[in-house]
Amino acid sequence: MGVFDIFDNGSRSTISGVSLDRIADIYGTPVIVYSARRIRDNFTRLKKAFPEASIFYSVKANDNPRIIELLGGMGSGADTASPFEISMSIFAGIDTGNILYSPNNASLRDLEFAYDRGITINFNSFTQYSKMRGKMERISFRINPGFGLGEFGGITTGGSNTKFGLDPDSAVLAYEKAREDGSSEFGIHMMIGSNNRNHLQLYEAYSSFFKVADRISKEAGVKFEFVDIGGGLGIPYSSADKDLDIASLGSMTTDEFSRHGFGHLVLEPGRYIVGDAGIIIGTVNDVHNGFVGTDIGMNINIRPALYGARHTILPLSERTEGEEMTVTGQICENTDRIGQIAYRVMEGDRLMVLCAGAYVYSMSSRYNGRPRPAEVMIMEDGTDRLIRRREDFSDFLSAVV
Ligand SMILES: Cc1ncc(COP(=O)(O)O)c(C=O)c1O
Repeated sequence: MGVFDIFDNGSRSTISGVSLDRIADIYGTPVIVYSARRIRDNFTRLKKAFPEASIFYSVKANDNPRIIELLGGMGSGADTASPFEISMSIFAGIDTGNILYSPNNASLRDLEFAYDRGITINFNSFTQYSKMRGKMERISFRINPGFGLGEFGGITTGGSNTKFGLDPDSAVLAYEKAREDGSSEFGIHMMIGSNNRNHLQLYEAYSSFFKVADRISKEAGVKFEFVDIGGGLGIPYSSADKDLDIASLGSMTTDEFSRHGFGHLVLEPGRYIVGDAGIIIGTVNDVHNGFVGTDIGMNINIRPALYGARHTILPLSERTEGEEMTVTGQICENTDRIGQIAYRVMEGDRLMVLCAGAYVYSMSSRYNGRPRPAEVMIMEDGTDRLIRRREDFSDFLSAVV
């Protein structure tokens, strides 16, 4: 079942049988609504495709601790990018042995925060490692294999002109040094881009990474206990996008992995698990100059303004096709555009922005004095649970001294 089928068509939008209009009546708009069932289904599908791999949910996609908790309960670990993401994961009940820290440009303090809690670090550079030299029994480096696979330049994190990772030759030297410094357990990491839905491209990238890892292992004289292929698994953002063939990707990758003598396979997906499990509901406040003006802006979803991401936008109820218009928010920037809508809408109508579970709330801001929205989870039994309240003015003052 794809994301575009989890909502009833036509006049009533629901998640697990719960009317989204009712949710908007109760909690107001803008509100982000998640389907617990969809998160669970996504995780289960992934686990089935990669039965032997360890999955570390990438907290940056959505750091709501109730989501991390749900995934932790299904056996997921947490992949983190900062001390606060580590703390959020611990708060959500993830054991520190099940947390990975994959930072870039971390301070000594950041690195020690992870080290003091026994958390495995994927070092982004040799200089980052040097801050902790001689201290760590377990070491992993992020490799830049020389190419990237992201949907846009902004989410391509491998290849030339990116700040991420060590090239394979430098990595050989780095592992040799770590071995000489007394480290005895090794992992290797790669994360070359996000939102790729082509299983053949992903498989090619993983296979060539396994070869690079083999070479580094032999030349540096280290054995890899884990090989972390990062996140990046893509999802459809419109009904025209093809689904990622996760079952084929999983079986091809598992087969290839077993031909090498590595320990275990690690994945760090974020978007694949939560991306299509969340929607934003907003209200049309104005229709003006050919723009649909809503309470959903770049303060809530910066992805379209940041790198041209596309989101499907539909009226919450009553869908009558109309002239295509651009949906905007309440922010004083001309980049405050969320996407296009091809239905007739009027002031007071409610809209929903699909596939807003990943990189939406976690990238949101309070720009222009706008509070962050509420987050509601629809549980599998059809109950709704407020998992983060809407911010109020006291939140704006909470750090002011
Ligand atoms: C190190 C690392 N791991 C995992 C992820 C998750 O990526 P995705 O949401 O594409 O699965 C990211 C995203 O940027 C990342 O930087």
